[in-house]
Amino acid sequence: MKILVTGGAGFIGSAFVRMAILETDWRVVNFDKLTYAGNLENLLEVEDSDRYRFLHADICDERAVEAALAEERPDAIVHFAAESHVDRSILSPEPVIHTNFRGSFTLLEAARRRGIGRFLHVSTDEVYGSLAAPLEATEDFPLNASSPYSASKAASDLLARSYFTTYGLPVVITRASNNYGPYQFPEKLIPLMIANAFEDRPLPVYGDGMQVRDWLYVEDHCRGILAALEKGRDGEIYNIGGNRSLPNIEVVRRILAATGKPESLIQFVTDRLGHDRRYALSSEKLMRDAGWRPLMDFETGLSRTIEWYRANAGWVARVRSGAYREYYERNYGQRSVR
Ligand code: NAD
Ligand code: DAU
Repeated sequence: MKILVTGGAGFIGSAFVRMAILETDWRVVNFDKLTYAGNLENLLEVEDSDRYRFLHADICDERAVEAALAEERPDAIVHFAAESHVDRSILSPEPVIHTNFRGSFTLLEAARRRGIGRFLHVSTDEVYGSLAAPLEATEDFPLNASSPYSASKAASDLLARSYFTTYGLPVVITRASNNYGPYQFPEKLIPLMIANAFEDRPLPVYGDGMQVRDWLYVEDHCRGILAALEKGRDGEIYNIGGNRSLPNIEVVRRILAATGKPESLIQFVTDRLGHDRRYALSSEKLMRDAGWRPLMDFETGLSRTIEWYRANAGWVARVRSGAYREYYERNYGQRSVR
Protein backbone atom coordinates (compact mmCIF):
# COMPACT_ATOMS: atom_id res chain seq x y z
CA MET A 1 0.00 0.00 0.00
CA LYS A 2 1.28 3.46 -0.92
CA ILE A 3 -0.51 6.62 0.19
CA LEU A 4 -0.04 10.22 -0.83
CA VAL A 5 -0.71 12.50 2.14
CA THR A 6 -1.29 16.21 1.50
CA GLY A 7 -0.43 18.61 4.33
CA GLY A 8 1.69 15.97 6.06
CA ALA A 9 3.99 18.59 7.59
CA GLY A 10 1.16 20.24 9.57
CA PHE A 11 -0.18 19.37 13.00
CA ILE A 12 -2.56 16.50 12.24
CA GLY A 13 -0.96 15.46 8.94
CA SER A 14 2.43 14.94 10.60
CA ALA A 15 0.86 12.87 13.39
CA PHE A 16 -0.80 10.78 10.70
CA VAL A 17 2.45 10.34 8.72
CA ARG A 18 4.33 9.33 11.90
CA MET A 19 1.59 6.81 12.72
CA ALA A 20 1.50 5.39 9.18
CA ILE A 21 5.30 4.94 9.04
CA LEU A 22 5.75 3.66 12.59
CA GLU A 23 2.66 1.44 12.85
CA THR A 24 2.10 0.09 9.32
CA ASP A 25 4.33 -1.15 6.48
CA TRP A 26 2.92 1.41 4.03
CA ARG A 27 4.92 3.77 1.85
CA VAL A 28 4.04 7.42 2.45
CA VAL A 29 4.55 10.36 0.11
CA ASN A 30 4.11 13.67 1.93
CA PHE A 31 2.97 16.41 -0.48
CA ASP A 32 3.20 19.75 1.31
CA LYS A 33 3.73 23.40 0.36
CA LEU A 34 5.27 24.28 3.74
CA THR A 35 3.18 27.33 4.55
CA TYR A 36 3.70 29.00 7.96
CA ALA A 37 1.92 25.94 9.44
CA GLY A 38 4.04 23.29 7.73
CA ASN A 39 7.18 22.23 9.54
CA LEU A 40 9.53 19.40 8.60
CA GLU A 41 10.79 19.33 12.20
CA ASN A 42 7.50 17.54 12.98
CA LEU A 43 8.75 14.58 10.93
CA LEU A 44 12.29 14.09 12.26
CA GLU A 45 11.24 10.73 13.73
CA VAL A 46 10.41 9.26 10.32
CA GLU A 47 12.34 11.28 7.72
CA ASP A 48 15.08 8.64 7.36
CA SER A 49 12.65 5.80 6.70
CA ASP A 50 13.02 4.32 3.20
CA ARG A 51 9.20 4.17 3.11
CA TYR A 52 8.90 7.97 3.43
CA ARG A 53 9.32 10.66 0.79
CA PHE A 54 8.73 14.42 0.99
CA LEU A 55 7.56 16.44 -2.01
CA HIS A 56 7.61 20.22 -1.62
CA ALA A 57 4.62 21.26 -3.73
CA ASP A 58 1.30 23.10 -3.82
CA ILE A 59 -2.05 21.29 -4.15
CA CYS A 60 -3.29 24.20 -6.31
CA ASP A 61 -0.52 23.52 -8.85
CA GLU A 62 -2.14 21.14 -11.34
CA ARG A 63 1.14 20.14 -12.99
CA ALA A 64 2.82 19.34 -9.68
CA VAL A 65 -0.17 17.24 -8.58
CA GLU A 66 -0.29 15.38 -11.92
CA ALA A 67 3.45 14.73 -11.83
CA ALA A 68 3.33 13.38 -8.27
CA LEU A 69 0.48 11.00 -9.07
CA ALA A 70 2.10 9.87 -12.34
CA GLU A 71 5.46 9.20 -10.69
CA GLU A 72 4.29 7.75 -7.37
CA ARG A 73 1.07 5.95 -8.44
CA PRO A 74 -0.40 5.94 -4.91
CA ASP A 75 -3.21 3.54 -4.00
CA ALA A 76 -4.90 6.25 -1.93
CA ILE A 77 -4.80 9.98 -1.24
CA VAL A 78 -5.34 11.28 2.30
CA HIS A 79 -6.07 14.98 1.94
CA PHE A 80 -5.23 17.15 4.97
CA ALA A 81 -3.69 20.21 3.28
CA ALA A 82 -5.64 23.35 4.12
CA GLU A 83 -5.54 26.79 5.61
CA SER A 84 -6.92 25.60 8.93
CA HIS A 85 -7.32 28.63 11.20
CA VAL A 86 -10.70 30.37 11.59
CA ASP A 87 -9.22 33.69 12.82
CA ARG A 88 -6.88 33.91 9.82
CA SER A 89 -9.83 33.12 7.51
CA ILE A 90 -11.65 36.12 9.01
CA LEU A 91 -8.65 38.43 8.61
CA SER A 92 -7.81 37.24 5.04
CA PRO A 93 -10.34 34.88 3.38
CA GLU A 94 -8.68 34.62 -0.06
CA PRO A 95 -5.90 32.09 0.70
CA VAL A 96 -8.41 29.95 2.59
CA ILE A 97 -10.86 29.77 -0.30
CA HIS A 98 -8.03 29.21 -2.80
CA THR A 99 -6.30 26.35 -0.97
CA ASN A 100 -9.30 24.68 0.61
CA PHE A 101 -11.62 24.79 -2.39
CA ARG A 102 -9.44 25.22 -5.49
CA GLY A 103 -6.73 22.94 -4.06
CA SER A 104 -9.27 20.21 -3.27
CA PHE A 105 -10.69 20.55 -6.79
CA THR A 106 -7.22 20.18 -8.34
CA LEU A 107 -6.58 17.01 -6.34
CA LEU A 108 -10.00 15.52 -7.05
CA GLU A 109 -9.60 16.11 -10.78
CA ALA A 110 -6.16 14.51 -10.86
CA ALA A 111 -7.42 11.59 -8.74
CA ARG A 112 -10.33 11.06 -11.13
CA ARG A 113 -8.06 11.08 -14.19
CA ARG A 114 -5.66 8.62 -12.54
CA GLY A 115 -8.39 6.33 -11.17
CA ILE A 116 -7.13 6.55 -7.58
CA GLY A 117 -8.46 3.68 -5.45
CA ARG A 118 -9.51 5.80 -2.46
CA PHE A 119 -9.68 9.55 -1.77
CA LEU A 120 -10.02 10.39 1.92
CA HIS A 121 -11.05 14.00 2.37
CA VAL A 122 -10.31 15.32 5.88
CA SER A 123 -13.02 17.73 7.03
CA THR A 124 -14.42 19.27 10.18
CA ASP A 125 -17.44 19.44 12.50
CA GLU A 126 -17.53 23.20 11.79
CA VAL A 127 -19.47 22.50 8.58
CA TYR A 128 -22.58 21.72 10.71
CA GLY A 129 -22.43 25.17 12.36
CA SER A 130 -23.55 25.99 15.87
CA LEU A 131 -25.93 23.49 17.51
CA ALA A 132 -28.16 24.08 20.55
CA ALA A 133 -27.66 21.59 23.42
CA PRO A 134 -28.31 18.68 23.59
CA LEU A 135 -28.17 18.21 19.78
CA GLU A 136 -25.29 16.20 18.33
CA ALA A 137 -24.70 16.32 14.58
CA THR A 138 -24.99 13.07 12.67
CA GLU A 139 -23.56 12.85 9.16
CA ASP A 140 -26.89 13.71 7.51
CA PHE A 141 -27.23 17.06 9.35
CA PRO A 142 -27.54 20.11 7.08
CA LEU A 143 -24.42 22.15 6.33
CA ASN A 144 -24.55 25.51 8.11
CA ALA A 145 -21.07 27.00 7.94
CA SER A 146 -20.40 30.37 9.62
CA SER A 147 -16.81 31.43 8.85
CA PRO A 148 -14.96 31.66 5.53
CA TYR A 149 -12.90 28.69 6.80
CA SER A 150 -15.90 26.46 7.54
CA ALA A 151 -17.64 27.56 4.32
CA SER A 152 -14.53 26.57 2.33
CA LYS A 153 -14.51 23.16 4.04
CA ALA A 154 -18.27 22.64 3.46
CA ALA A 155 -17.85 23.60 -0.20
CA SER A 156 -14.96 21.16 -0.65
CA ASP A 157 -16.96 18.42 1.11
CA LEU A 158 -19.78 18.91 -1.40
CA LEU A 159 -17.32 18.87 -4.29
CA ALA A 160 -15.65 15.69 -3.01
CA ARG A 161 -19.06 14.03 -2.64
CA SER A 162 -20.00 15.09 -6.17
CA TYR A 163 -16.92 13.26 -7.50
CA PHE A 164 -18.29 10.06 -5.97
CA THR A 165 -21.84 10.60 -7.20
CA THR A 166 -20.90 11.82 -10.68
CA TYR A 167 -17.70 9.97 -11.54
CA GLY A 168 -17.69 7.09 -9.05
CA LEU A 169 -14.41 8.26 -7.48
CA PRO A 170 -14.16 6.25 -4.21
CA VAL A 171 -14.34 9.24 -1.87
CA VAL A 172 -14.64 8.97 1.92
CA ILE A 173 -15.12 12.14 4.01
CA THR A 174 -14.24 12.43 7.71
CA ARG A 175 -15.43 15.31 9.92
CA ALA A 176 -13.56 15.72 13.17
CA SER A 177 -14.00 17.91 16.22
CA ASN A 178 -11.31 20.17 17.79
CA ASN A 179 -7.92 18.45 17.90
CA TYR A 180 -5.23 19.04 20.48
CA GLY A 181 -1.84 17.48 21.22
CA PRO A 182 1.89 17.92 20.47
CA TYR A 183 3.08 19.95 17.45
CA GLN A 184 -0.08 22.10 17.17
CA PHE A 185 0.73 25.58 15.90
CA PRO A 186 0.35 28.07 18.81
CA GLU A 187 -2.39 30.07 17.11
CA LYS A 188 -5.08 27.57 18.20
CA LEU A 189 -6.71 27.79 21.65
CA ILE A 190 -4.86 25.12 23.64
CA PRO A 191 -1.24 25.66 22.47
CA LEU A 192 -1.65 29.45 22.47
CA MET A 193 -2.91 29.44 26.06
CA ILE A 194 -0.15 27.03 27.17
CA ALA A 195 2.56 29.14 25.51
CA ASN A 196 1.20 32.38 27.00
CA ALA A 197 0.78 30.84 30.47
CA PHE A 198 4.42 29.65 30.48
CA GLU A 199 5.48 33.26 29.81
CA ASP A 200 3.00 34.91 32.24
CA ARG A 201 1.37 36.71 29.30
CA PRO A 202 -2.41 37.44 29.19
CA LEU A 203 -4.66 34.56 28.04
CA PRO A 204 -7.08 36.19 25.52
CA VAL A 205 -10.54 34.59 25.89
CA TYR A 206 -13.02 35.62 23.19
CA GLY A 207 -16.39 36.98 24.39
CA ASP A 208 -17.71 35.32 27.56
CA GLY A 209 -15.66 32.12 27.06
CA MET A 210 -18.81 29.96 27.23
CA GLN A 211 -18.47 28.63 23.66
CA VAL A 212 -18.37 24.84 23.71
CA ARG A 213 -15.92 22.68 21.73
CA ASP A 214 -15.53 18.88 21.70
CA TRP A 215 -11.85 17.99 22.31
CA LEU A 216 -10.22 15.13 20.41
CA TYR A 217 -6.64 13.98 21.01
CA VAL A 218 -4.76 14.12 17.70
CA GLU A 219 -3.74 10.44 17.77
CA ASP A 220 -7.38 9.41 18.28
CA HIS A 221 -8.24 11.47 15.20
CA CYS A 222 -5.47 9.80 13.17
CA ARG A 223 -6.65 6.33 14.20
CA GLY A 224 -10.16 7.35 13.13
CA ILE A 225 -8.85 8.39 9.72
CA LEU A 226 -6.97 5.10 9.37
CA ALA A 227 -10.16 3.23 10.29
CA ALA A 228 -12.22 5.20 7.75
CA LEU A 229 -9.52 4.71 5.10
CA GLU A 230 -9.45 0.95 5.58
CA LYS A 231 -13.02 0.14 6.56
CA GLY A 232 -15.15 3.10 5.42
CA ARG A 233 -17.62 2.68 2.59
CA ASP A 234 -17.26 4.60 -0.69
CA GLY A 235 -19.21 7.85 -0.78
CA GLU A 236 -19.82 7.89 2.98
CA ILE A 237 -19.15 10.56 5.60
CA TYR A 238 -17.84 9.67 9.08
CA ASN A 239 -17.85 11.98 12.10
CA ILE A 240 -14.86 11.68 14.47
CA GLY A 241 -15.55 13.33 17.84
CA GLY A 242 -13.65 13.30 21.12
CA ASN A 243 -16.80 12.87 23.23
CA ARG A 244 -15.46 15.57 25.57
CA SER A 245 -17.35 18.85 25.37
CA LEU A 246 -16.10 21.77 27.46
CA PRO A 247 -16.63 25.55 27.50
CA ASN A 248 -13.46 27.41 26.47
CA ILE A 249 -13.12 29.14 29.83
CA GLU A 250 -13.01 25.74 31.55
CA VAL A 251 -10.20 24.60 29.23
CA VAL A 252 -8.27 27.81 29.96
CA ARG A 253 -8.75 27.41 33.73
CA ARG A 254 -7.45 23.83 33.55
CA ILE A 255 -4.35 25.00 31.67
CA LEU A 256 -3.69 27.65 34.32
CA ALA A 257 -4.15 25.11 37.13
CA ALA A 258 -1.85 22.58 35.43
CA THR A 259 0.87 25.16 34.78
CA GLY A 260 0.57 26.63 38.29
CA LYS A 261 -0.35 30.10 36.99
CA PRO A 262 -2.96 32.52 38.43
CA GLU A 263 -6.44 33.07 36.94
CA SER A 264 -5.63 36.79 36.89
CA LEU A 265 -3.84 36.06 33.57
CA ILE A 266 -7.26 35.52 31.92
CA GLN A 267 -8.22 38.49 29.76
CA PHE A 268 -11.72 38.56 28.22
CA VAL A 269 -11.38 40.26 24.82
CA THR A 270 -13.62 41.23 21.89
CA ASP A 271 -15.38 38.18 20.49
CA ARG A 272 -14.52 36.46 17.19
CA LEU A 273 -16.82 37.64 14.35
CA GLY A 274 -19.60 35.11 13.59
CA HIS A 275 -18.40 32.97 16.51
CA ASP A 276 -20.17 29.59 16.67
CA ARG A 277 -21.47 28.92 20.17
CA ARG A 278 -21.40 25.14 20.33
CA TYR A 279 -20.19 22.20 18.26
CA ALA A 280 -21.19 18.63 19.09
CA LEU A 281 -20.87 15.41 17.12
CA SER A 282 -22.16 11.87 17.19
CA SER A 283 -19.43 9.40 16.11
CA GLU A 284 -21.76 6.36 16.32
CA LYS A 285 -21.37 5.58 12.61
CA LEU A 286 -17.57 5.18 12.68
CA MET A 287 -17.83 3.21 15.93
CA ARG A 288 -20.39 0.87 14.38
CA ASP A 289 -18.80 0.50 10.92
CA ALA A 290 -15.11 0.46 11.86
CA GLY A 291 -14.92 -0.32 15.58
CA TRP A 292 -13.18 3.02 16.31
CA ARG A 293 -13.52 4.97 19.55
CA PRO A 294 -11.50 7.77 21.19
CA LEU A 295 -9.08 6.30 23.73
CA MET A 296 -7.47 9.36 25.32
CA ASP A 297 -9.22 11.02 28.27
CA PHE A 298 -8.98 14.81 28.27
CA GLU A 299 -7.14 15.10 31.61
CA THR A 300 -4.29 12.79 30.49
CA GLY A 301 -4.22 14.26 26.98
CA LEU A 302 -4.03 17.83 28.27
CA SER A 303 -1.28 17.07 30.76
CA ARG A 304 0.75 15.21 28.07
CA THR A 305 0.28 18.16 25.75
CA ILE A 306 1.43 20.67 28.39
CA GLU A 307 4.49 18.51 29.16
CA TRP A 308 5.31 18.29 25.44
CA TYR A 309 5.23 22.09 25.10
CA ARG A 310 7.35 22.45 28.26
CA ALA A 311 9.94 20.03 26.86
CA ASN A 312 9.88 21.59 23.38
CA ALA A 313 10.28 25.30 24.09
CA GLY A 314 12.76 25.50 21.18
CA TRP A 315 10.12 24.24 18.71
CA VAL A 316 7.66 26.88 19.97
CA ALA A 317 10.27 29.66 19.76
CA ARG A 318 11.18 28.70 16.20
CA VAL A 319 7.59 28.56 14.89
CA ARG A 320 6.72 31.80 16.71
CA SER A 321 9.57 33.80 15.20
CA GLY A 322 9.01 36.20 12.31
CA ALA A 323 5.57 36.11 10.69
CA TYR A 324 3.87 34.81 13.85
CA ARG A 325 4.49 38.09 15.65
CA GLU A 326 2.91 40.02 12.79
CA TYR A 327 -0.17 37.74 12.86
CA TYR A 328 -0.45 38.03 16.68
CA GLU A 329 -0.50 41.81 16.43
CA ARG A 330 -3.10 41.76 13.63
CA ASN A 331 -5.45 39.38 15.44
CA TYR A 332 -5.05 40.50 19.05
CA GLY A 333 -3.72 44.08 18.81
CA GLN A 334 -7.09 45.49 17.77
CA ARG A 335 -9.24 43.56 20.30
CA SER A 336 -10.30 45.64 23.28
CA VAL A 337 -10.22 44.11 26.74
CA ARG A 338 -13.81 43.58 28.00
P1 NAD B 1 -2.24 22.85 9.91
O1 NAD B 1 -2.57 24.27 9.61
O2 NAD B 1 -1.45 22.52 11.13
O3 NAD B 1 -1.44 22.21 8.67
C1 NAD B 1 -1.84 22.42 7.33
C2 NAD B 1 -0.75 21.80 6.44
O4 NAD B 1 -1.17 21.96 5.07
C3 NAD B 1 0.62 22.50 6.56
O5 NAD B 1 1.65 21.53 6.59
C4 NAD B 1 0.71 23.35 5.30
O6 NAD B 1 2.04 23.59 4.87
C5 NAD B 1 -0.08 22.49 4.31
N1 NAD B 1 -0.61 23.29 3.21
C6 NAD B 1 -1.35 24.42 3.28
N2 NAD B 1 -1.64 24.87 2.05
C7 NAD B 1 -1.11 23.97 1.18
C8 NAD B 1 -1.09 23.87 -0.24
N3 NAD B 1 -1.68 24.81 -1.00
N4 NAD B 1 -0.47 22.82 -0.81
C9 NAD B 1 0.14 21.87 -0.04
N5 NAD B 1 0.17 21.92 1.31
C10 NAD B 1 -0.45 22.96 1.91
O7 NAD B 1 -3.64 22.10 9.88
P2 NAD B 1 -4.21 20.94 10.82
O8 NAD B 1 -4.75 21.53 12.05
O9 NAD B 1 -3.22 19.85 10.89
O10 NAD B 1 -5.46 20.46 9.93
C11 NAD B 1 -5.30 19.49 8.91
C12 NAD B 1 -6.64 19.21 8.27
O11 NAD B 1 -7.56 18.75 9.25
C13 NAD B 1 -7.29 20.43 7.61
O12 NAD B 1 -7.91 20.00 6.42
C14 NAD B 1 -8.34 20.87 8.63
O13 NAD B 1 -9.41 21.52 8.00
C15 NAD B 1 -8.74 19.54 9.22
N6 NAD B 1 -9.25 19.57 10.61
C16 NAD B 1 -8.52 20.20 11.59
C17 NAD B 1 -8.98 20.15 12.90
C18 NAD B 1 -8.21 20.80 14.03
O14 NAD B 1 -8.71 20.85 15.14
N7 NAD B 1 -7.00 21.30 13.81
C19 NAD B 1 -10.20 19.50 13.20
C20 NAD B 1 -10.93 18.90 12.16
C21 NAD B 1 -10.44 18.94 10.87
O1 DAU C 1 -13.93 22.09 15.22
C1 DAU C 1 -12.87 21.72 14.38
C2 DAU C 1 -12.04 22.94 14.07
O2 DAU C 1 -11.33 23.25 15.26
C3 DAU C 1 -11.07 22.75 12.91
O3 DAU C 1 -11.80 22.54 11.73
C4 DAU C 1 -10.16 23.98 12.74
O4 DAU C 1 -9.18 23.71 11.74
C5 DAU C 1 -9.48 24.25 14.06
O5 DAU C 1 -8.72 25.45 13.96
C6 DAU C 1 -10.51 24.38 15.18
O6 DAU C 1 -11.31 25.57 15.00
P1 DAU C 1 -11.74 26.48 16.24
O7 DAU C 1 -12.05 27.83 15.76
O8 DAU C 1 -12.77 25.80 17.07
O9 DAU C 1 -10.35 26.42 17.06
P2 DAU C 1 -9.53 27.53 17.84
O10 DAU C 1 -8.46 26.80 18.59
O11 DAU C 1 -9.12 28.66 16.98
O12 DAU C 1 -10.59 28.08 18.89
C7 DAU C 1 -11.22 27.21 19.81
C8 DAU C 1 -12.19 28.06 20.63
O13 DAU C 1 -11.43 28.97 21.44
C9 DAU C 1 -13.10 28.94 19.79
O14 DAU C 1 -14.37 29.01 20.40
C10 DAU C 1 -12.42 30.30 19.81
C11 DAU C 1 -11.76 30.34 21.18
N1 DAU C 1 -10.51 31.13 21.25
C12 DAU C 1 -9.51 30.84 20.37
C13 DAU C 1 -8.33 31.56 20.39
C14 DAU C 1 -7.23 31.25 19.41
C15 DAU C 1 -10.34 32.10 22.23
O15 DAU C 1 -11.25 32.32 23.07
N2 DAU C 1 -9.17 32.81 22.26
C16 DAU C 1 -8.15 32.58 21.38
O16 DAU C 1 -7.11 33.30 21.45
